[in-house]
Amino acid sequence: MKVIIQNSADDAARLAARIIAGQLRANPALVLGLATGATMESVYAVLAAMHRDEGLDFSRCRTFNLDEYVGLAPEDEHSYRHYMNCHLFGKVNIGLRNTRLPNGTAVDLDAECASYEAAIKKTGGIDFQLLGIGSNGHIGFNEPLSSLRSRTRVMTLSPATISQNQRYFENPDMMPKRAITMGVGTILESKRCLLLATGSAKAGVIARAVEGSVSSMVPASALQIHPRCAVILDEAAAAGLSEKEYYRWFFDHEPEWAEYH
Ligand code: F6R
Repeated sequence: MKVIIQNSADDAARLAARIIAGQLRANPALVLGLATGATMESVYAVLAAMHRDEGLDFSRCRTFNLDEYVGLAPEDEHSYRHYMNCHLFGKVNIGLRNTRLPNGTAVDLDAECASYEAAIKKTGGIDFQLLGIGSNGHIGFNEPLSSLRSRTRVMTLSPATISQNQRYFENPDMMPKRAITMGVGTILESKRCLLLATGSAKAGVIARAVEGSVSSMVPASALQIHPRCAVILDEAAAAGLSEKEYYRWFFDHEPEWAEYH
């Protein structure tokens, strides 16, 4: 795990977008794993601007999102399909047939989960997975106590996640209480991954995920055993880390990151 601390949330999002763009330029047929949520909105805004201003090409890219609410149709404005179409897919040159999210309205949800795993496998696996983190340590919707080997499945959301996300629903009771999510094991199989967290509300959970023990109680801590994982933070989200100076030194001296200074 490599931790990169940026001065502001905007700088952190810009760096995440530049890294994704670099991956896409190096491999135009990239299989990209995507996340939703407030943190990702600025990443997608930068990627959309790179497409518009620099011609960043998404035409051969294929995407798989981490999760989708059970019971919400793609056209529902609270669905993650709707979020992705608004924030990214509708703003870049990607064919919607190359973008996939779990189908939360499938009649047989277990079959949908199996087919999602099979579809990822058929592409050869996710090359680059983008991740956010919930205040309870979830990645995707892998809530605390998710097995570190879990696969795509239906997850009942925790009270913490429900209260984190209810603000997006005009009627909070309308928020689904279940979602389909890639598993922690699915995420760990991505070839590279990047977790982005910003804001002081994430400082406590970031300290536990990055410097605490690997534990299913904090699913994001499983990223410590991912062979190529970067964690990009702003100062506020990094506030609880004890080794900040070391992480800064490492970023300044690591040749892999030189192009991003
Ligand atoms: C959603 C997802 C979640 C979010 C997390 C943080 O697709 O993967 O794990 O990344 O809940 O959400 P925000 O950015 O809204 O704090």
